[in-house]
Amino acid sequence: MCGIVGYIGKKEVLPILISGLRRLEYRGYDSAGVAISHAGKVKKIKSVGKIDVLAEKVKSVDLVGSVGIAHTRWATHGGVTEENAHPHIGCQDDLVICHNGIIENYRELKENFLKGHTLRSQTDTEVLAHLIEIFYEGDLLKAVQKALAEVRGTYGLVAMHAAEPNKIIAARLGSPLVIGVGENEYYVASDTSPMLAHTKNVVFLDDGEVAEITLESLKIYNVEQKAVDKNIEKIEWDEAQAEKQGFDHFMLKEIFDQPTVIKDAIRGRYSLDEGTAHLGGLNMTDEQMHQVKRVVMLACGTAYYAGLVGKYAFERLAGLPTEADVASEFRYRDPIIDKHTLVFAISQSGETADTLAALREAKRKGAFVRGVVNVVGSTIARETDGGTYIHAGPELAVASSKAYTNMVATLILYALQFGRLNRVSVATGERLLNALLEIPEKMKLVLAQNDKIKSLAEKYKSYKNCIYLGRGINFPVALEGALKLKEISYVHCEAFAGGEMKHGPIALLAPDFPVLAIMTKNQLYEKMRSNVEEILARKAPVIIIATQGDDEVKELSEDVIYIPPTMELLEPLLNTIALQLYAYHMAVILGKDVDRPRNLAKSVTVE
Ligand code: F6R
Repeated sequence: MCGIVGYIGKKEVLPILISGLRRLEYRGYDSAGVAISHAGKVKKIKSVGKIDVLAEKVKSVDLVGSVGIAHTRWATHGGVTEENAHPHIGCQDDLVICHNGIIENYRELKENFLKGHTLRSQTDTEVLAHLIEIFYEGDLLKAVQKALAEVRGTYGLVAMHAAEPNKIIAARLGSPLVIGVGENEYYVASDTSPMLAHTKNVVFLDDGEVAEITLESLKIYNVEQKAVDKNIEKIEWDEAQAEKQGFDHFMLKEIFDQPTVIKDAIRGRYSLDEGTAHLGGLNMTDEQMHQVKRVVMLACGTAYYAGLVGKYAFERLAGLPTEADVASEFRYRDPIIDKHTLVFAISQSGETADTLAALREAKRKGAFVRGVVNVVGSTIARETDGGTYIHAGPELAVASSKAYTNMVATLILYALQFGRLNRVSVATGERLLNALLEIPEKMKLVLAQNDKIKSLAEKYKSYKNCIYLGRGINFPVALEGALKLKEISYVHCEAFAGGEMKHGPIALLAPDFPVLAIMTKNQLYEKMRSNVEEILARKAPVIIIATQGDDEVKELSEDVIYIPPTMELLEPLLNTIALQLYAYHMAVILGKDVDRPRNLAKSVTVE
């Protein structure tokens, strides 16, 4: 939610800020702004709309300098207006700040401190700008520390003052900030993507820390305002991974990345001889693994649907009772969690507020909590007691694709590792692993049907509604496919378990209400076939996802997407790709902004 970028060094800062904002645009894109400190003055420019609008606007303004901060916004407090866009200033225009997060006690702060101050926006952030201004006595670090001591809420914050031209103050509580360390230069951003082109050396700020970044040095202070030594870490992602590489959209590129990146999720994490997985990050002794009596998957959105597939895998392979829980519900229930529960917090960004709160609750209750996370160094990765990076590489389209398949692959490996403790034989484990190793090539065969899937999207483009149907392990696939379709093409689409049709949804069916049925050859094939026949009897058009070689399916519909055969447990890794492509093409055909769908942001760091 919202992205921050900042730079201090010798280079011209404006292009760095604009390209950094483009990298972070997936975090929010309703308005944006930059501020540059130069020759004892701070100049700022803001605009409503995407980064392109800001990039155009700055062309007509004289904005030189080599120190600056910038922000791309996803509105929380206050509408989408230029006044509400960041950077914000106090009464004078010599102090500027950009902020992610929420200042919960902003009303109280306004009443207690801001008498006589005129506020120009409806944002909580502007209150913080005025508060820092009040505390400013020639030392920006001190002023920020004093102001933050009064704040209740969350923040990723960067601040500059005209009187201290070669300085940026950065602070973090609940909203991520990373500092990139270059040669006589520093970058600061909400994640590493804006700095990948410039440096691989980064320092992750922890909650409560405040950094004083100058041309000469980087000093970091903890909550007690004591200087702390931080490790410089190396990021492995490279710049090319964050480019479109000739694809029209990041989402399409990321869908096509899947055969490559799934290998990164699997590599070095299994032994064929032993028929098992070795996920070192699990960080549990065999004895501790035997103590686990229940598994809980915590996540939101697409990551939750990956968790639902994980539930099937754990029940089948490990024989452990497993639940997948929407993190936002879990955190406000009274969940039954104890020291025999293993909790997986699943998240692409590693910053999702609800997942983070839910994992903290699970930890409090004594569970083993492990992360299944993509972004290295993210908060969830750091707050869990172990876990696994899914190695999907940067995912920049707002709609998740490759992270989902890598989450599923990782959870299947975990399930196998637990399964080998009791009910899975070496031979069965080896068979599963061999089938998993064939998945990248099979993914390519699904991707090869891109044109066919595009023509189906063309055929069905005028329908306003549809139902996705799946059973067993393909029910979560249907849920994920339906989420993809609605979030990027805005076509109304609901997913149901096949068996539920007769309990209500079948009433919706009519010739103008198509159904996409996942009817691959598995133990529930006949059941799905009955569902499809019932649908056809109501004259609803049907698209079928079927297994290659199943010619009988052509009797039911001419609209079939064939998927290579695999083990049932691995079907989500292939079937989902067909649904990702269908959603992608539908969105393009309907003229939607695929990578930046309306009202959404990539990391949901507020509730
Ligand atoms: C959908 C999508 C979202 C995320 C959800 C969780 O395409 O991207 O539903 O899956 O917001 O995000 P992470 O995985 O970052 O916790």
